Amino acid sequence: MTATVIDGKAFAAKVRGQVADHVARLKEAHGITPGLAVVLVGEDPASQVYVRSKGKMTVEVGMKSVEHKLDADTSEEDLLAVVKSLNEDTEIHGILVQLPLPGHLNEDLVINSIDPAKDVDGFHISNVGLLGTGQKSMVPCTPLGCLMMLRDHHGSLSGLNAVVIGRSNIVGKPMAQLLLNDSCTVTIAHSRTKDIQDVVRGADVVVAAVGRPEMVTGEWIKPGATVIDVGINRIDAPEKGEGKTRLVGDCDYDSCAEVAGAITPVPGGVGPMTIACLLANTVTACCRANGLAEPEGLTA
Ligand code: GUN
Repeated sequence: MTATVIDGKAFAAKVRGQVADHVARLKEAHGITPGLAVVLVGEDPASQVYVRSKGKMTVEVGMKSVEHKLDADTSEEDLLAVVKSLNEDTEIHGILVQLPLPGHLNEDLVINSIDPAKDVDGFHISNVGLLGTGQKSMVPCTPLGCLMMLRDHHGSLSGLNAVVIGRSNIVGKPMAQLLLNDSCTVTIAHSRTKDIQDVVRGADVVVAAVGRPEMVTGEWIKPGATVIDVGINRIDAPEKGEGKTRLVGDCDYDSCAEVAGAITPVPGGVGPMTIACLLANTVTACCRANGLAEPEGLTA
């Protein structure tokens, strides 16, 4: 079998189009422009690239984009004051504090200081609890993007065996919760799981989010299963020339694609969906804040 390729780049463009339509309607009918604030502390190059990309796409869909760039040695007090001012700003509907934060800052404390209604990352403890009890919440962007692609491919996910590899708070745990809320039978596998290959081989849906390049191979995959690869790993690529690198996922694409029914590539799979879902969450937060109908198909 050769797997259907799930085109995350095209899917993300479609989601951004839906967000842009909704933003235009909010402006026209209600005079409201959704606003997203991103807070970056320090100069981590990967974070800087990510934040720039978020700002550009926020503006492209017609939303207001605000960036707060703070020095690496910013005190916790000063950072909390920035978050407080954004919590109180009625033109801001979504707040994202870029992680990781420098070591002297308490991430949990900072994230939990964000107004849960503006927590477009879905990391606030209130949103984690709401998701865990199947209530309306803000949902973490990467798992939301995976869920959208899975729903689009399968229609209903009810009754499917899903294995999530990885137990991070950002991807693995919320992903498992979303799949459970969609009536999958869910297993979370991780570095201590015994006979992990056998566990994964039982899955109709595999979501790999471990950060280990090409760990999952075709032998692990049940024929016809759907493979969602969240990993983005840079590895050496001597075949491209000395010192060259390439991006790979947590799944060995070629061998998995021979066995799977559908698979997301890296790059061009889950990656583009994350920012698209951040924009979707911002428009959702804006609608909720104003007591207006939420956009359909853009929430969990
Ligand atoms: N750093 C890497 N990914 C993310 C994300 O989705 N949200 C935040 N806040 N920081 C990140």
